[in-house]
Amino acid sequence: MPPTKITVRSDGPLRVEGEVELVDMEGRPYGLGGRPAIALCRCGHSGNKPFCDGSHKTHGFQDKQQARDLPPPQQKVATTDEHR
Ligand code: FES
Repeated sequence: MPPTKITVRSDGPLRVEGEVELVDMEGRPYGLGGRPAIALCRCGHSGNKPFCDGSHKTHGFQDKQQARDLPPPQQKVATTDEHR
């Protein structure tokens, strides 16, 4: 099975293709109706969040994207609170 693919669309949503489980903050799954791909809003204007409803076009959302590398993650310093 190919890995899940997420495409960051310039001026648009995150297109997610492949097997994925989308859950809310309580871990309840969204029913995706058997769709092989979904689009997640990243403009903030969708009336059907977290899904894209095309509103990015009417709101003039602009964010050109090109793949890049993130820096390595910073080492987290443990505090005494985390050991309790
Ligand atoms: S990205 Fe499409 S409505 Fe937000």
